Amino acid sequence: MMLTPASPGPICSSLMACKIKVDLGARSYEIRVGEGVLAQVGALCRELELGPSALVVSDEHVNPLYGPAVESSLRAAGFQVGRVAVPAGESSKAEARLFRLYDEALDRGLDRRAFVVALGGGVVGDLAGYFAASYLRGIRYVQVPTSLLAMVDSSVGGKTGINLPRGKNLVGAFHQPVLVAADITTLRSLPPREYAAGLAEVVKYGVIRDAAFFARLEANLAGLRSGEPALLEDVIAHCCRIKAEVVRLDERERSLRAILNFGHTLGHALEQVTGYGTYLHGEAVSLGMAFAARLSTRLAGLPADEAERIENLLRALGLPVDRPDLDWSAARRAMTLDKKTQDRVLKFVLADRIGAARPGVEAPDAVLEEVWTEGRQPKKR
Ligand code: GLY
Repeated sequence: MMLTPASPGPICSSLMACKIKVDLGARSYEIRVGEGVLAQVGALCRELELGPSALVVSDEHVNPLYGPAVESSLRAAGFQVGRVAVPAGESSKAEARLFRLYDEALDRGLDRRAFVVALGGGVVGDLAGYFAASYLRGIRYVQVPTSLLAMVDSSVGGKTGINLPRGKNLVGAFHQPVLVAADITTLRSLPPREYAAGLAEVVKYGVIRDAAFFARLEANLAGLRSGEPALLEDVIAHCCRIKAEVVRLDERERSLRAILNFGHTLGHALEQVTGYGTYLHGEAVSLGMAFAARLSTRLAGLPADEAERIENLLRALGLPVDRPDLDWSAARRAMTLDKKTQDRVLKFVLADRIGAARPGVEAPDAVLEEVWTEGRQPKKR
């Protein structure tokens, strides 16, 4: 089933793997989205004349599932392959893991022609990407995302990094991959909660850049919830197209790229204040988007019925939107620590309407607190 269009316009023209170009001059690359892409990784790397050695970096959940297939695809294409797995979870985005990867690479004698294959979700992509950005002053890498969130967001655009004890992503680099290969069959092994969390970033693209896409999501709820393959391929490819365009226009996040952080100011704060143990990233972003939508009606003229549509779509996709049971002062403090805050003034990405967002809108504290307080609390069970 293809997307039911709510308005005319093709999203993905074929059932073969979609190809999307990220157009960045000498740093341009292709994103492949489709079924069976995993088995093509070796051949695609050979076309790019990478190698001769590849280091596949994965995590302990993903590696047993897809590591052997990626390794055989690379070997069949003539590469020498090493494979390492880090523990699954955010704690692997840390200095200790990064330094173990340097040791691993040195032990294997990897030189500057070697390349990295980041096989996994956002944590693996960020860690392996930063390893590739910094090892021997930079080697090439391929992103093979296996979570919905990584496919539509973190694998594209070249943001890499690790966390420090004092905050998320405080060390990193912009380092573009040479290829993104997203095999949607890997989503079948994704826990339902993680799949739903990835949908939050999908909704984000509609809100910030494409009203027709947003309407198509509203019109395809059942297929989205069940992960219908052709629909997913269309949706993921479309999100990648939007991201590729934003990154092309503002690779280093001087201004426009910040719209990709819609919902993230509060989202990151909620993750931080709850010790990263309560919400998945996408769930925190969903709460942050519902908040940012209400804030947008106050400060950016977003019509109230459009804010409601945003909240309703998130809710219909099984995502949280109701105000968390948390003190405003704790959430506010955590927002100040976000690295997007400048001179302690909170700036938000707000939507003027569904399909158009702008970054850097200053939000007075009194308004923020009112919007927080008017948010509906979840029903107590
Ligand atoms: N995830 C936001 C960005 O890539 O800019």
